[in-house]
Amino acid sequence: MEAVLPSLAWPAGEIDRVPYRVYTDADLYKRELERIFYAGHWNYVGLACEVPNPGDYRTTWIGERSVIMVRDSDGGINVVENHCAHRGVRFCRTDHGNVKDFVCPYHQWNYDLKGNLMGVPFRRGVKAMRDGKPVIQGGMPADFKTAEHGLTQLRVEVLHGLVFASFDHGVPPLVDTIGPKVMPWIERIFKGRELMLLGYSRQRIPGNWKLMQENIKDPYHPGLLHTWFVTFGLWRADQRSQMVLDEHGRHAVMISRRNEGGKADVTQGVTSFKETLKLNDERLLDVVPEPWWDGPTVTMITLFPSLIIQQQVNSLSTRHILPRGPGQFDFVWTHFGFTDDTPEMTRRRLRQANLFGPAGFVSADDGEVVEMSQQGFMQDPAGRTISALGGRDVGDTDHMVTETLIRGMTAYWRRVMEV
Ligand code: FES
Ligand code: FE2
Repeated sequence: MEAVLPSLAWPAGEIDRVPYRVYTDADLYKRELERIFYAGHWNYVGLACEVPNPGDYRTTWIGERSVIMVRDSDGGINVVENHCAHRGVRFCRTDHGNVKDFVCPYHQWNYDLKGNLMGVPFRRGVKAMRDGKPVIQGGMPADFKTAEHGLTQLRVEVLHGLVFASFDHGVPPLVDTIGPKVMPWIERIFKGRELMLLGYSRQRIPGNWKLMQENIKDPYHPGLLHTWFVTFGLWRADQRSQMVLDEHGRHAVMISRRNEGGKADVTQGVTSFKETLKLNDERLLDVVPEPWWDGPTVTMITLFPSLIIQQQVNSLSTRHILPRGPGQFDFVWTHFGFTDDTPEMTRRRLRQANLFGPAGFVSADDGEVVEMSQQGFMQDPAGRTISALGGRDVGDTDHMVTETLIRGMTAYWRRVMEV
């Protein structure tokens, strides 16, 4: 049974104001897990290039359920839940590795790489001698069928090297849920390319998981909060840009084109703009345009609920949001390039990755403001955020002076959550 939700005094249809409790309430969070992470949606689990060979696996999370992405001997990718069918043990305790099968340590039940139960020790009992006669002791009942006791198998789709899974086998096909407006921006980066894994960074951020999605649906802040962006011109309000939403308002893309930075109208009075700031190592901004960019130098794709795909000049990464209760989430960054990159390009992508991650020149700021937002929400349960920049409706724009993408997600969230 679903929890009874708190009364939020939130007028129906209002999407430009959000009660703080939406980010702090434990019962709302439980409903989010049930309705958003465990049903009705595809969840990103990783890149296919993280598990190149049969038996390669990587553990991750969907909501708060531990899952394993594994490549089987047919070359397919499966996602199974990380708990044993016998007595529930979360049997896989390593982050990644290579196995022939999965063996639960408790009673050694073993599962193949698709999650089927293969072996049950002493299933047919143990032979012994009693009063000089051979007898069979114990064993599983005769009607016990291994086929009925595999691991929970999730539905899986692989899109241009991105792996998605769902506990909900009735979820519509992935392409339909991404939709025709957002798909071209995914294909621009991934289609027809082989990905090369460059590395990870991870952090725990003490804020609600939705704040991270909203941060990447917020083109208002980068040219104000981030000294790096406003000073060096990677993202600010005087650039050509475009905001795109899917038909439900849940996924979005922020698209822009860098300029040369420096002083301009939009830097007037902006305290984060540092006119005299210079790089000690110019290679951090050694940007080399790539043919597939076709104009934009930055695209930030948010796929509801838990994936962000980022291209910022030559740096590419997925950012995976793993909720850990209403007040914190883990944030996993997977940096990648392409197998046909030159060694110089790989070095460049890695150098530019210094902008991102827990201590990134840009992203450290985002982690801090997410934490500071959560602190503000906690201290005033009756408070409400405002996201009315650029109007009160939802729609694509050809500029960045808007919070329309945040309103789109709020409207969708209210519908799914029935709040
Ligand atoms: Fe896994 Fe018993 S709990 S084999
Ligand atoms: Fe930011």
